[in-house]
Amino acid sequence: MTTTSGETRTQTSSELIPERRFLGRDDVNDIESILRDDETDFGDISHSTATRGDALFTWDYERTRPGLSKLYEKAKVSMWNGETDLDWSTDVDVEKVANEMSGAVEQFRNMMIALDDSPVRLWGPKEWTEFEIEAFNWRMSQFLHGEQGALVCTAKIVVTTPWIDAKYYAAAQVMDEARHVEVFAKYLDTKLGGAYPVNANLQMLIDDVLGDPRWDMTYMGMQIMIEGLALTAFGFMHQITQEPLLKKLLRYVMSDEARHVAFGVLSLQEYYQGLDGSEIRERQEFAFEAAIRMRDRLMMHAVWEKMGVSKRAYTEMLFKVRAQGTNPFQAGLFSKIVPNCKKLGLLDAGDGWLREKFTEIGVIQFEDFTDTGEEYELLDELARDRANAS
Ligand SMILES: [Fe+2]
Ligand SMILES: [Fe+2]
Repeated sequence: MTTTSGETRTQTSSELIPERRFLGRDDVNDIESILRDDETDFGDISHSTATRGDALFTWDYERTRPGLSKLYEKAKVSMWNGETDLDWSTDVDVEKVANEMSGAVEQFRNMMIALDDSPVRLWGPKEWTEFEIEAFNWRMSQFLHGEQGALVCTAKIVVTTPWIDAKYYAAAQVMDEARHVEVFAKYLDTKLGGAYPVNANLQMLIDDVLGDPRWDMTYMGMQIMIEGLALTAFGFMHQITQEPLLKKLLRYVMSDEARHVAFGVLSLQEYYQGLDGSEIRERQEFAFEAAIRMRDRLMMHAVWEKMGVSKRAYTEMLFKVRAQGTNPFQAGLFSKIVPNCKKLGLLDAGDGWLREKFTEIGVIQFEDFTDTGEEYELLDELARDRANAS
């Protein structure tokens, strides 16, 4: 397999921290680099990547972290069952769901149509509906693959984290993530008739998270960045859709995800207090790199190609639209990541490097939004349903 820098990635000793090529602002918007990334082969049946980091056994079984302990107890009683708690006999009108979603991106769509020589200038309602159905499937597919990434990353946290309270909690999260993979796979299979492959930049980010031997980097990449973004994306979809099966599925998944992000925040808050300036800077750079990749490079190339628009034509069109100003919808995806980074002390550590970067990319306005350290108690949908049923 090749990395973004085009070098072959090989298995190395767990002491080695892999070379990560950070994308600069110019690289992020370099069309050749985007198209090259998109060609990365992740296999039709399976994909293997090196995980690094030592398995750590602790002989200290004392429960010294009440925050994590409370979260673990909450996880134990918040398990739901994807088979019996969701009504899979629901008849899903995919076209209707797709059209609900289209309202949210109308402004963006109009900007694309208005461009000179726009590849979509001749599209009518039939093409747009077809596009929205594919886009819905693509989003659900990336949720599915992201959930598998979370499953694997959380299993790695069980292995590498030094604290017993964190091992307990991560083990409960592994079960949550298995359930999430299960329900997204079932929805895609039974209601949407199949899934799209993983987006290259999403999988590259997951591979980087797994390839880093420092235990806290799995937390940073998965619990704070990827799950922070996923929680927001689930929230958008949940708000928009009226489809009852999807709405309930998302409510339950989001309740779990809020705990997962809280797990990352609680653990890293403690660990980062003991790191020196240069170590913190590495975490800041990692956070920014992940943010940039997720904001600018999670493109639906496969959908556009299916609709007859080449990757290059789509990417060029997207750049022209982006040049007209910040997309508030896209920036909104950071409404959980930024306050969580602030809570971890990453925004202002050192000389405020991350604050400067988040200001540059137009997402700093979210710094005082609710952080997810406590939000999981407000988002407990399963407890709400149980209370209503009794
Ligand atoms: Fe999940
Ligand atoms: Fe999660």
